[in-house]
Amino acid sequence: MCGIVGYIGHREAYPIVIKGLKRLEYRGYDSAGLVLYDGADLKLSKTKGKVSDLEAKATKEISLNGTIGIGHTRWATHGVPNDVNSHPHVSNSGNLVIVHNGIIENYEPLKKELIKRGYTFKSDTDTEVLVNLIEDVQKKDNLKLGKAVQLALNQVVGAYAICVFDKQKPDEIVVARLGSPLAIGIGENEYFIASDASPFIEYTSNAIYLEDEEMAIVRLHKSLKIRKIKDDSLVDPYIQELQMNLEQIEKGGYDHFMLKEIYEQPSVIKDTYRGRLHANEGMIKMAGVEDNIEKFTNAHRILIIACGTSWHAGLVAEYIFEEFARIPVEVEYASEFRYRNPIITDKDVVIAISQSGETADTLAAIKLAKEKGAFVFGVCNVVGSSISRESHAGAYTHAGPEIGVASTKAFTTQITVLTMIALRLAKIKGTLSKTEYHTYLSELEMMPEKVQEALLTNEVTKEIASVYKNASNCLYLGRGYNFPVALEGALKLKEISYIHAEGYPAAEMKHGPIALIDEQMPVVVIAPKQGHYDKVVSNIQEIKSRSGKIIAVVTKGDEQVRALADHVIEIPESSDPLSPLLTTIPLQLLSYHIAVMRGCNVDQPRNLAKSVTVE
Ligand code: F6R
Repeated sequence: MCGIVGYIGHREAYPIVIKGLKRLEYRGYDSAGLVLYDGADLKLSKTKGKVSDLEAKATKEISLNGTIGIGHTRWATHGVPNDVNSHPHVSNSGNLVIVHNGIIENYEPLKKELIKRGYTFKSDTDTEVLVNLIEDVQKKDNLKLGKAVQLALNQVVGAYAICVFDKQKPDEIVVARLGSPLAIGIGENEYFIASDASPFIEYTSNAIYLEDEEMAIVRLHKSLKIRKIKDDSLVDPYIQELQMNLEQIEKGGYDHFMLKEIYEQPSVIKDTYRGRLHANEGMIKMAGVEDNIEKFTNAHRILIIACGTSWHAGLVAEYIFEEFARIPVEVEYASEFRYRNPIITDKDVVIAISQSGETADTLAAIKLAKEKGAFVFGVCNVVGSSISRESHAGAYTHAGPEIGVASTKAFTTQITVLTMIALRLAKIKGTLSKTEYHTYLSELEMMPEKVQEALLTNEVTKEIASVYKNASNCLYLGRGYNFPVALEGALKLKEISYIHAEGYPAAEMKHGPIALIDEQMPVVVIAPKQGHYDKVVSNIQEIKSRSGKIIAVVTKGDEQVRALADHVIEIPESSDPLSPLLTTIPLQLLSYHIAVMRGCNVDQPRNLAKSVTVE
């Protein structure tokens, strides 16, 4: 998973490409590169490291002129991150240049064949194979670049979003996608190409999202042509009006995107339910649900598939759906689901949850579920993403761009969407009493204010972070609705601070993890008043009697736990099912502050990337 950018038009390409790469760094940041054509020759610069390293290097080593250019920010798959393996890659003739996001699975046999034909390779990448394959095809029959790309891609197995141009014909860029996202921004006789629309948002609000197996030739002074890679048929371009704005993708005064996104939660939860939740009228209206209401009400089972944080949101939803709508729910890791032989029928509703809408395992899992006859409902954040398009129907979370690699607002908005669906089904099935139903509706509507109040825990979490910033391990415990929150809290801590952390259902502690507890071990216990409070208090006592350090997330005014715990973090009162929307907030802040204090790169943790578009 990598980010790609391209520009062709009347402006200088360099500032657009470099700024675009910075916006796409969430997709990968172990190396970066760009190439410009200045009217005479290609100007190539690439380096291991971040886009800022590329900027420093490019400014010194190449002239930055040219109105056509492509760039890449990499998350290594084939070949270690180093200068040579960085993109762009150049063909043997020195004419073709390419940037690529994805994996060419059959690159080894293709490489062997090209070597036999006299080609040489500098890097270990699959991408260098692809650019030479295109060149080979082009040379054989003296083809135009677009045709050569098409024929070459028909020999390729794998996933790609590519951007390629020929220095001998610098008035066009050829792009194509299969399995990796690609957007084309359309200006006045200029085109912007990128893995998502953020790099060109200030230049145009008109964009085309290529579909899988489509390619486009963007040519100056010509209208855009989109074709199917397999059969060459022409596709009518569907131009969308972009919904994001520049402010949404900038830090807005916060030190990190993650912190900004944590603080956005009150407003994005409101955006998520706006126009859907009508507490006064006792109604929930979600078009994707209403249009398929019988699928849901007749479902024998709901199967939730997702990865990472989205999977945790799925676990919360399991508790909510079963409690509210009395429909059996199973939650699966997409990566496991896709490689077993799951029993799925047309009576199943599969809900796929994904912030990016591009996670390869989730995408493959929903394709499998569809093949087996299930109805697939996508809960995605990124509009027009692959999962949203591959699903039969869906609901967007409307959380706005999430740039920090650690997911925060995606989690709470996913829970908001899933809670609304569960409430809608509960109403139809009569599985909640009228009073319960109306109370949950009103409470959900009040959540933005409560989340705002939960954000006041920032100062106390900062103090607690300063005490535990050097810990080597940490346990997170929760029960019921807050067991998945314990998992999520642990995931947040480990991914951005590199402290080993584990989440457990609190009662499971005595079946093993309790052996870990000593005076060095911080244990975060989620203990709101509703739910299994007394049981969790007993668990706290068990930890205390083994000298563990207790950080308890409690309902405001809880004196009982305050008397036992080393630290308490108070959140507003709520019902048990909706409490994850609040308990998760201080856990996000705690991991954020610990990571900052440890000097970690919060927005771009090591080895990670924002969307995992490879297996
Ligand atoms: C954790 C995190 C990841 C993602 C996971 C799924 O903070 O961000 O665990 O949740 O990679 O990504 P999406 O939701 O885009 O499918």
